[in-house]
Amino acid sequence: MESENMAENNQNAAAGKAPAKPKPPAPGAAKPAAPAAAKPAAGAAKPAVPAAAKPAASSAGVYKPPVDRPDSNPYGENRVSALGAWFQERFYVLIPVIDYLKKKEVPQHRLSFWYYFGGLTLFFFIIQVLTGLLLLQYYKPTGAEAFSSFVFIQKEVPFGWLIRQVHAWSANLMIGMAFIHMFSTFFMKSYRKPRELMWVSGFVLLVLSLGFGFTGYLLPWNELAFFATQVGTEVPKVMPGGGLLVDILRGGKDVSPETLTRMFSLHVVLLPGLLLLMLSAHLMLVQVLGTSSPIGYKEAGLIKGYEKFFPTFLAKDAIGWMIGFALLVYLAVMFPWEIGVQADPLGSAPVGIKPEWYFWAQFQLLKDFTFEGGELLAIVLFTVGAILWILVPFLDRQASREQRSPIFTILGLLVIAFLVINTYRVYAEYSQL
Ligand code: HEM
Repeated sequence: MESENMAENNQNAAAGKAPAKPKPPAPGAAKPAAPAAAKPAAGAAKPAVPAAAKPAASSAGVYKPPVDRPDSNPYGENRVSALGAWFQERFYVLIPVIDYLKKKEVPQHRLSFWYYFGGLTLFFFIIQVLTGLLLLQYYKPTGAEAFSSFVFIQKEVPFGWLIRQVHAWSANLMIGMAFIHMFSTFFMKSYRKPRELMWVSGFVLLVLSLGFGFTGYLLPWNELAFFATQVGTEVPKVMPGGGLLVDILRGGKDVSPETLTRMFSLHVVLLPGLLLLMLSAHLMLVQVLGTSSPIGYKEAGLIKGYEKFFPTFLAKDAIGWMIGFALLVYLAVMFPWEIGVQADPLGSAPVGIKPEWYFWAQFQLLKDFTFEGGELLAIVLFTVGAILWILVPFLDRQASREQRSPIFTILGLLVIAFLVINTYRVYAEYSQL
Protein backbone atom coordinates (compact mmCIF):
# COMPACT_ATOMS: atom_id res chain seq x y z
CA MET A 1 0.00 0.00 0.00
CA GLU A 2 2.75 2.40 1.06
CA SER A 3 4.88 1.58 -1.97
CA GLU A 4 1.81 1.87 -4.21
CA ASN A 5 1.17 5.38 -2.90
CA MET A 6 4.76 6.26 -3.40
CA ALA A 7 4.73 4.99 -6.93
CA GLU A 8 1.57 6.96 -7.60
CA ASN A 9 3.09 10.10 -6.13
CA ASN A 10 6.24 9.71 -8.09
CA GLN A 11 4.28 9.27 -11.30
CA ASN A 12 2.34 12.43 -10.53
CA ALA A 13 5.54 14.29 -9.91
CA ALA A 14 7.04 13.05 -13.16
CA ALA A 15 3.92 14.34 -14.92
CA GLY A 16 4.53 17.73 -13.30
CA LYS A 17 1.61 17.38 -10.85
CA ALA A 18 1.98 17.06 -7.10
CA PRO A 19 5.44 16.88 -5.54
CA ALA A 20 6.57 13.36 -4.88
CA LYS A 21 7.87 11.69 -1.76
CA PRO A 22 11.57 11.25 -1.29
CA LYS A 23 13.07 7.98 -2.37
CA PRO A 24 13.10 5.51 0.52
CA PRO A 25 16.36 5.79 2.45
CA ALA A 26 18.95 3.07 2.05
CA PRO A 27 18.56 0.26 4.61
CA GLY A 28 19.94 1.34 7.93
CA ALA A 29 19.94 5.02 7.04
CA ALA A 30 18.00 6.88 9.70
CA LYS A 31 17.56 10.20 7.93
CA PRO A 32 17.18 11.48 4.36
CA ALA A 33 20.48 12.24 2.67
CA ALA A 34 22.21 15.21 4.22
CA PRO A 35 23.23 18.10 1.98
CA ALA A 36 26.52 17.58 0.21
CA ALA A 37 28.12 20.39 2.16
CA ALA A 38 27.18 18.77 5.46
CA LYS A 39 28.44 15.29 4.55
CA PRO A 40 31.50 14.27 6.48
CA ALA A 41 34.54 14.06 4.22
CA ALA A 42 35.57 10.46 3.60
CA GLY A 43 38.06 9.38 6.20
CA ALA A 44 37.67 12.54 8.27
CA ALA A 45 37.84 11.90 12.01
CA LYS A 46 35.00 14.30 12.92
CA PRO A 47 31.87 15.04 10.89
CA ALA A 48 32.42 18.37 9.20
CA VAL A 49 29.82 20.93 10.17
CA PRO A 50 28.92 23.09 7.17
CA ALA A 51 30.38 26.50 7.73
CA ALA A 52 27.15 28.23 6.81
CA ALA A 53 25.13 26.11 9.25
CA LYS A 54 27.34 27.01 12.19
CA PRO A 55 25.69 29.67 14.36
CA ALA A 56 28.20 32.45 13.84
CA ALA A 57 28.76 34.73 16.80
CA SER A 58 30.14 38.20 16.18
CA SER A 59 32.96 39.51 18.31
CA ALA A 60 30.35 41.28 20.44
CA GLY A 61 28.70 37.90 21.14
CA VAL A 62 25.57 38.68 19.13
CA TYR A 63 23.96 35.49 17.76
CA LYS A 64 23.63 35.38 13.99
CA PRO A 65 21.37 32.67 12.62
CA PRO A 66 22.80 30.33 10.00
CA VAL A 67 22.24 31.53 6.45
CA ASP A 68 21.33 28.10 5.04
CA ARG A 69 18.81 25.65 6.42
CA PRO A 70 20.59 23.00 8.42
CA ASP A 71 18.86 20.16 6.56
CA SER A 72 18.51 19.75 2.84
CA ASN A 73 15.37 19.47 0.76
CA PRO A 74 14.97 15.72 0.27
CA TYR A 75 12.34 16.39 -2.41
CA GLY A 76 14.72 18.45 -4.51
CA GLU A 77 15.12 15.80 -7.18
CA ASN A 78 11.41 15.66 -8.00
CA ARG A 79 10.44 17.25 -11.27
CA VAL A 80 7.97 20.03 -10.63
CA SER A 81 7.29 23.28 -12.49
CA ALA A 82 9.68 26.19 -11.93
CA LEU A 83 7.11 27.90 -9.70
CA GLY A 84 6.44 24.61 -7.88
CA ALA A 85 10.18 24.16 -7.32
CA TRP A 86 10.45 27.68 -5.89
CA PHE A 87 7.77 26.95 -3.30
CA GLN A 88 9.04 23.41 -2.73
CA GLU A 89 12.45 24.74 -1.76
CA ARG A 90 10.88 26.96 0.87
CA PHE A 91 8.06 24.79 2.18
CA TYR A 92 9.26 21.23 1.61
CA VAL A 93 8.67 20.34 5.25
CA LEU A 94 4.94 20.57 4.48
CA ILE A 95 5.06 17.94 1.72
CA PRO A 96 4.50 15.01 4.13
CA VAL A 97 1.51 16.93 5.51
CA ILE A 98 0.02 17.25 2.02
CA ASP A 99 0.70 13.56 1.41
CA TYR A 100 -1.03 12.78 4.69
CA LEU A 101 -4.09 14.86 3.74
CA LYS A 102 -4.26 12.98 0.45
CA LYS A 103 -4.44 9.73 2.38
CA LYS A 104 -7.15 10.83 4.83
CA GLU A 105 -10.39 8.89 4.39
CA VAL A 106 -13.93 9.41 5.63
CA PRO A 107 -16.10 6.39 6.56
CA GLN A 108 -19.37 5.98 4.66
CA HIS A 109 -22.43 4.74 6.55
CA ARG A 110 -26.09 5.65 7.03
CA LEU A 111 -25.21 8.54 9.40
CA SER A 112 -22.51 10.06 7.13
CA PHE A 113 -24.86 12.95 6.34
CA TRP A 114 -24.14 14.44 9.75
CA TYR A 115 -20.45 14.87 8.92
CA TYR A 116 -21.32 17.87 6.72
CA PHE A 117 -22.44 20.15 9.53
CA GLY A 118 -18.95 20.96 10.85
CA GLY A 119 -17.98 22.10 7.35
CA LEU A 120 -21.18 24.15 7.05
CA THR A 121 -20.44 25.88 10.36
CA LEU A 122 -16.99 26.69 9.01
CA PHE A 123 -18.50 28.00 5.77
CA PHE A 124 -20.82 30.42 7.56
CA PHE A 125 -17.92 31.56 9.74
CA ILE A 126 -15.91 32.42 6.61
CA ILE A 127 -18.92 34.37 5.27
CA GLN A 128 -19.00 36.24 8.60
CA VAL A 129 -15.35 37.26 8.31
CA LEU A 130 -15.73 38.44 4.70
CA THR A 131 -18.98 40.37 5.16
CA GLY A 132 -17.78 41.72 8.54
CA LEU A 133 -14.69 43.18 6.84
CA LEU A 134 -16.89 44.89 4.25
CA LEU A 135 -19.22 46.31 6.90
CA LEU A 136 -16.22 47.66 8.77
CA GLN A 137 -15.45 49.96 5.84
CA TYR A 138 -18.52 52.08 6.67
CA TYR A 139 -19.57 51.25 10.22
CA LYS A 140 -18.63 53.82 12.90
CA PRO A 141 -18.59 52.42 16.45
CA THR A 142 -19.57 55.54 18.41
CA GLY A 143 -22.81 56.40 20.17
CA ALA A 144 -23.22 59.45 17.93
CA GLU A 145 -22.58 57.74 14.59
CA ALA A 146 -23.27 54.01 14.95
CA PHE A 147 -26.95 54.11 14.04
CA SER A 148 -26.56 56.63 11.19
CA SER A 149 -23.64 54.69 9.68
CA PHE A 150 -25.73 51.55 9.96
CA VAL A 151 -28.63 53.25 8.10
CA PHE A 152 -26.13 54.57 5.54
CA ILE A 153 -24.89 51.00 4.87
CA GLN A 154 -28.46 49.78 4.49
CA LYS A 155 -29.70 52.61 2.27
CA GLU A 156 -26.81 54.31 0.48
CA VAL A 157 -23.86 51.96 0.04
CA PRO A 158 -24.23 49.89 -3.17
CA PHE A 159 -25.25 46.38 -2.08
CA GLY A 160 -24.67 47.46 1.52
CA TRP A 161 -28.15 46.16 2.44
CA LEU A 162 -27.26 42.74 1.05
CA ILE A 163 -23.96 42.55 2.90
CA ARG A 164 -25.63 43.55 6.17
CA GLN A 165 -28.49 41.09 5.72
CA VAL A 166 -26.11 38.28 4.77
CA HIS A 167 -23.98 39.05 7.85
CA ALA A 168 -27.03 38.98 10.14
CA TRP A 169 -28.46 35.78 8.64
CA SER A 170 -25.13 34.00 8.39
CA ALA A 171 -24.55 34.66 12.11
CA ASN A 172 -27.78 32.85 12.91
CA LEU A 173 -27.08 30.02 10.50
CA MET A 174 -23.55 29.60 11.85
CA ILE A 175 -24.83 29.22 15.41
CA GLY A 176 -27.67 26.95 14.24
CA MET A 177 -25.18 24.73 12.35
CA ALA A 178 -22.83 24.67 15.35
CA PHE A 179 -25.69 23.37 17.53
CA ILE A 180 -26.64 20.69 14.99
CA HIS A 181 -22.96 19.73 14.62
CA MET A 182 -22.53 19.53 18.39
CA PHE A 183 -25.56 17.28 18.91
CA SER A 184 -24.72 15.08 15.94
CA THR A 185 -21.20 14.50 17.26
CA PHE A 186 -22.75 13.94 20.68
CA PHE A 187 -25.15 11.21 19.53
CA MET A 188 -22.48 9.54 17.36
CA LYS A 189 -20.24 9.66 20.47
CA SER A 190 -17.50 11.18 18.30
CA TYR A 191 -16.13 12.75 21.49
CA ARG A 192 -14.85 9.39 22.75
CA LYS A 193 -11.18 8.56 23.04
CA PRO A 194 -9.01 9.89 21.36
CA ARG A 195 -11.23 12.85 20.30
CA GLU A 196 -11.88 14.35 23.75
CA LEU A 197 -10.08 17.56 22.86
CA MET A 198 -12.12 17.92 19.67
CA TRP A 199 -15.20 18.08 21.86
CA VAL A 200 -13.62 20.50 24.34
CA SER A 201 -12.29 22.81 21.61
CA GLY A 202 -15.65 22.57 19.81
CA PHE A 203 -17.53 23.60 22.93
CA VAL A 204 -15.23 26.61 23.38
CA LEU A 205 -15.95 27.47 19.72
CA LEU A 206 -19.67 27.41 20.43
CA VAL A 207 -19.27 29.68 23.46
CA LEU A 208 -17.16 32.09 21.39
CA SER A 209 -19.78 32.02 18.62
CA LEU A 210 -22.47 32.90 21.17
CA GLY A 211 -20.19 35.71 22.34
CA PHE A 212 -20.10 37.00 18.75
CA GLY A 213 -23.89 36.99 18.67
CA PHE A 214 -24.18 38.82 21.99
CA THR A 215 -21.59 41.52 21.23
CA GLY A 216 -22.80 42.02 17.64
CA TYR A 217 -26.39 42.55 18.71
CA LEU A 218 -25.65 46.00 20.18
CA LEU A 219 -23.66 47.33 17.22
CA PRO A 220 -26.60 48.72 15.17
CA TRP A 221 -27.31 50.86 18.27
CA ASN A 222 -31.04 50.64 17.80
CA GLU A 223 -33.65 50.59 20.53
CA LEU A 224 -34.16 46.83 20.56
CA ALA A 225 -30.43 46.11 20.72
CA PHE A 226 -29.92 48.72 23.41
CA PHE A 227 -32.54 47.38 25.80
CA ALA A 228 -31.76 43.73 25.09
CA THR A 229 -28.13 44.43 26.03
CA GLN A 230 -29.35 46.24 29.12
CA VAL A 231 -31.23 43.10 30.18
CA GLY A 232 -28.47 40.69 29.08
CA THR A 233 -25.62 42.48 30.87
CA GLU A 234 -27.76 42.71 34.03
CA VAL A 235 -27.76 38.93 34.52
CA PRO A 236 -24.40 38.48 36.33
CA LYS A 237 -25.46 41.06 38.97
CA VAL A 238 -27.08 38.39 41.16
CA MET A 239 -23.79 36.47 41.49
CA PRO A 240 -21.29 37.26 44.23
CA GLY A 241 -18.91 39.81 42.67
CA GLY A 242 -21.18 39.95 39.61
CA GLY A 243 -21.61 43.74 39.96
CA LEU A 244 -17.98 44.18 38.99
CA LEU A 245 -18.44 41.96 35.95
CA VAL A 246 -21.45 44.03 34.89
CA ASP A 247 -19.41 47.25 35.25
CA ILE A 248 -16.63 45.73 33.17
CA LEU A 249 -19.02 44.57 30.45
CA ARG A 250 -20.83 47.88 30.30
CA GLY A 251 -17.88 50.20 30.90
CA GLY A 252 -19.91 51.87 33.66
CA LYS A 253 -23.08 51.41 35.63
CA ASP A 254 -25.42 51.52 32.63
CA VAL A 255 -25.38 50.60 28.97
CA SER A 256 -23.91 53.64 27.24
CA PRO A 257 -21.68 54.52 24.27
CA GLU A 258 -18.84 53.10 26.42
CA THR A 259 -20.59 49.73 26.22
CA LEU A 260 -20.74 50.06 22.45
CA THR A 261 -16.96 50.58 22.30
CA ARG A 262 -16.42 47.48 24.45
CA MET A 263 -18.78 45.30 22.48
CA PHE A 264 -17.24 46.50 19.24
CA SER A 265 -13.67 45.71 20.30
CA LEU A 266 -14.72 42.29 21.58
CA HIS A 267 -16.64 41.61 18.37
CA VAL A 268 -13.94 42.58 15.90
CA VAL A 269 -10.67 41.94 17.75
CA LEU A 270 -10.71 39.66 20.78
CA LEU A 271 -13.37 37.12 19.77
CA PRO A 272 -12.12 36.66 16.18
CA GLY A 273 -8.57 36.16 17.50
CA LEU A 274 -9.65 33.58 20.07
CA LEU A 275 -11.99 31.85 17.64
CA LEU A 276 -9.28 31.58 14.99
CA LEU A 277 -6.87 30.07 17.52
CA MET A 278 -9.42 27.54 18.72
CA LEU A 279 -10.61 26.78 15.20
CA SER A 280 -7.03 26.05 14.09
CA ALA A 281 -6.71 23.56 16.95
CA HIS A 282 -10.11 21.99 16.16
CA LEU A 283 -9.40 21.61 12.44
CA MET A 284 -5.88 20.34 13.04
CA LEU A 285 -7.31 17.64 15.32
CA VAL A 286 -9.84 16.71 12.62
CA GLN A 287 -6.95 16.10 10.24
CA VAL A 288 -4.65 14.36 12.70
CA LEU A 289 -7.26 12.06 14.26
CA GLY A 290 -9.42 11.58 11.19
CA THR A 291 -13.17 11.09 11.20
CA SER A 292 -14.69 8.68 13.72
CA SER A 293 -17.28 5.99 13.01
CA PRO A 294 -20.23 5.39 15.35
CA ILE A 295 -19.65 2.75 18.05
CA GLY A 296 -19.97 -0.83 16.80
CA TYR A 297 -20.43 0.10 13.13
CA LYS A 298 -17.13 -1.44 11.99
CA GLU A 299 -17.75 -4.68 13.88
CA ALA A 300 -21.33 -4.94 12.58
CA GLY A 301 -20.18 -4.39 8.98
CA LEU A 302 -22.22 -1.18 8.70
CA ILE A 303 -19.37 0.78 7.10
CA LYS A 304 -20.08 0.75 3.36
CA GLY A 305 -16.61 1.91 2.48
CA TYR A 306 -14.22 4.83 2.82
CA GLU A 307 -13.96 7.85 0.58
CA LYS A 308 -10.95 10.09 0.15
CA PHE A 309 -11.19 13.33 2.11
CA PHE A 310 -9.44 15.06 -0.77
CA PRO A 311 -11.02 15.52 -3.26
CA THR A 312 -14.19 13.38 -2.84
CA PHE A 313 -15.44 14.42 0.61
CA LEU A 314 -14.32 18.02 0.08
CA ALA A 315 -16.23 18.16 -3.22
CA LYS A 316 -19.38 16.93 -1.44
CA ASP A 317 -18.71 19.48 1.31
CA ALA A 318 -18.59 22.13 -1.42
CA ILE A 319 -22.05 21.04 -2.62
CA GLY A 320 -23.29 21.52 0.96
CA TRP A 321 -21.69 24.97 0.99
CA MET A 322 -23.43 25.93 -2.25
CA ILE A 323 -26.81 24.85 -0.84
CA GLY A 324 -25.98 26.81 2.34
CA PHE A 325 -25.10 29.86 0.26
CA ALA A 326 -28.34 29.67 -1.73
CA LEU A 327 -30.33 29.42 1.51
CA LEU A 328 -28.41 32.35 2.97
CA VAL A 329 -29.07 34.65 0.01
CA TYR A 330 -32.73 33.58 -0.08
CA LEU A 331 -33.21 34.41 3.60
CA ALA A 332 -31.28 37.70 3.32
CA VAL A 333 -33.41 38.89 0.40
CA MET A 334 -36.80 37.53 1.44
CA PHE A 335 -36.67 38.05 5.21
CA PRO A 336 -34.61 41.19 5.89
CA TRP A 337 -33.77 42.08 9.47
CA GLU A 338 -35.25 45.38 10.47
CA ILE A 339 -33.32 48.60 11.03
CA GLY A 340 -35.41 49.80 13.98
CA VAL A 341 -35.16 53.22 15.58
CA GLN A 342 -32.08 54.80 17.11
CA ALA A 343 -31.37 53.88 20.73
CA ASP A 344 -32.31 56.49 23.28
CA PRO A 345 -30.66 55.75 26.63
CA LEU A 346 -33.14 58.06 28.37
CA GLY A 347 -36.21 56.55 26.72
CA SER A 348 -38.29 53.76 28.22
CA ALA A 349 -37.90 50.15 27.12
CA PRO A 350 -40.37 49.03 24.46
CA VAL A 351 -42.51 45.97 25.22
CA GLY A 352 -41.30 42.53 24.17
CA ILE A 353 -37.58 42.94 24.82
CA LYS A 354 -35.91 39.56 24.44
CA PRO A 355 -32.45 38.30 23.49
CA GLU A 356 -31.55 36.43 20.28
CA TRP A 357 -33.17 33.00 19.87
CA TYR A 358 -30.03 31.11 20.94
CA PHE A 359 -30.31 32.57 24.44
CA TRP A 360 -34.03 31.92 24.82
CA ALA A 361 -33.70 28.69 26.77
CA GLN A 362 -31.58 30.36 29.46
CA PHE A 363 -33.79 33.45 29.35
CA GLN A 364 -36.89 31.35 30.02
CA LEU A 365 -35.19 29.56 32.91
CA LEU A 366 -34.42 32.95 34.49
CA LYS A 367 -38.04 33.99 33.99
CA ASP A 368 -39.31 30.77 35.57
CA PHE A 369 -37.18 31.05 38.70
CA THR A 370 -38.89 34.15 40.09
CA PHE A 371 -38.60 33.13 43.75
CA GLU A 372 -36.04 34.61 46.16
CA GLY A 373 -32.56 33.61 44.97
CA GLY A 374 -34.08 32.00 41.87
CA GLU A 375 -31.95 33.90 39.35
CA LEU A 376 -28.77 32.89 41.12
CA LEU A 377 -29.94 29.29 41.21
CA ALA A 378 -30.68 29.42 37.47
CA ILE A 379 -27.17 30.75 36.76
CA VAL A 380 -25.60 28.07 38.99
CA LEU A 381 -27.63 25.33 37.30
CA PHE A 382 -26.64 26.53 33.89
CA THR A 383 -22.97 26.85 34.77
CA VAL A 384 -22.85 23.38 36.35
CA GLY A 385 -24.72 21.98 33.32
CA ALA A 386 -22.22 23.58 30.93
CA ILE A 387 -19.26 22.21 32.93
CA LEU A 388 -20.73 18.70 32.91
CA TRP A 389 -21.45 19.02 29.18
CA ILE A 390 -17.85 19.97 28.39
CA LEU A 391 -16.64 17.04 30.53
CA VAL A 392 -18.84 14.48 28.75
CA PRO A 393 -15.92 12.73 26.95
CA PHE A 394 -14.26 12.12 30.33
CA LEU A 395 -17.47 11.05 32.08
CA ASP A 396 -18.71 8.64 29.41
CA ARG A 397 -16.26 5.84 30.19
CA GLN A 398 -18.29 3.22 28.29
CA ALA A 399 -18.00 5.09 25.01
CA SER A 400 -14.24 5.38 25.58
CA ARG A 401 -14.13 1.58 25.77
CA GLU A 402 -16.08 1.42 22.47
CA GLN A 403 -19.22 0.25 24.28
CA ARG A 404 -22.64 1.78 23.76
CA SER A 405 -23.65 4.30 26.43
CA PRO A 406 -27.46 4.69 26.33
CA ILE A 407 -27.48 6.79 29.50
CA PHE A 408 -25.58 9.53 27.70
CA THR A 409 -27.90 9.25 24.70
CA ILE A 410 -30.87 9.81 27.04
CA LEU A 411 -29.03 12.71 28.67
CA GLY A 412 -28.50 14.30 25.24
CA LEU A 413 -32.19 13.89 24.42
CA LEU A 414 -33.14 15.56 27.72
CA VAL A 415 -30.82 18.49 26.98
CA ILE A 416 -32.39 18.90 23.53
CA ALA A 417 -35.89 18.66 25.03
CA PHE A 418 -35.02 21.38 27.57
CA LEU A 419 -33.59 23.69 24.90
CA VAL A 420 -36.43 23.16 22.41
CA ILE A 421 -39.28 23.44 24.93
CA ASN A 422 -37.90 26.56 26.60
CA THR A 423 -37.08 28.17 23.24
CA TYR A 424 -40.58 27.44 22.01
CA ARG A 425 -42.10 28.93 25.16
CA VAL A 426 -40.33 32.23 24.56
CA TYR A 427 -41.35 32.17 20.91
CA ALA A 428 -44.99 31.47 21.78
CA GLU A 429 -45.12 34.19 24.43
CA TYR A 430 -43.37 36.93 22.47
CA SER A 431 -44.87 36.32 19.06
CA GLN A 432 -48.22 37.38 20.50
CA LEU A 433 -46.93 40.78 21.72
C1 HEM B 1 -17.29 27.39 15.05
C2 HEM B 1 -17.74 26.18 15.36
C3 HEM B 1 -17.22 24.87 14.76
C4 HEM B 1 -16.61 24.59 13.57
C5 HEM B 1 -16.27 25.60 12.47
C6 HEM B 1 -16.34 23.17 13.52
C7 HEM B 1 -15.75 22.51 12.44
C8 HEM B 1 -15.60 21.13 12.36
C9 HEM B 1 -15.27 20.39 11.17
C10 HEM B 1 -15.03 21.02 9.79
C11 HEM B 1 -15.22 19.08 11.49
C12 HEM B 1 -14.95 17.90 10.53
C13 HEM B 1 -16.20 17.47 9.81
C14 HEM B 1 -17.30 16.93 10.71
O1 HEM B 1 -17.10 15.89 11.33
O2 HEM B 1 -18.37 17.59 10.79
C15 HEM B 1 -15.48 18.96 12.91
C16 HEM B 1 -15.46 17.78 13.63
C17 HEM B 1 -15.79 17.68 14.98
N1 HEM B 1 -16.28 18.69 15.78
FE1 HEM B 1 -16.52 20.61 15.23
N2 HEM B 1 -16.77 22.60 14.69
C18 HEM B 1 -17.33 23.59 15.47
C19 HEM B 1 -17.95 23.44 16.70
C20 HEM B 1 -18.02 22.23 17.39
C21 HEM B 1 -18.75 22.03 18.61
C22 HEM B 1 -19.64 23.08 19.28
C23 HEM B 1 -18.50 20.74 19.01
C24 HEM B 1 -18.98 20.04 20.26
C25 HEM B 1 -19.04 20.58 21.43
C26 HEM B 1 -17.62 20.13 18.02
C27 HEM B 1 -17.11 18.84 18.09
C28 HEM B 1 -16.53 18.16 17.03
C29 HEM B 1 -16.14 16.76 17.05
C30 HEM B 1 -16.23 15.81 18.26
C31 HEM B 1 -15.68 16.45 15.76
C32 HEM B 1 -15.16 15.10 15.29
C33 HEM B 1 -16.21 14.39 14.48
C34 HEM B 1 -15.78 12.98 14.08
O3 HEM B 1 -14.59 12.70 14.01
O4 HEM B 1 -16.67 12.17 13.83
N3 HEM B 1 -17.36 21.06 17.05
N4 HEM B 1 -15.74 20.24 13.42
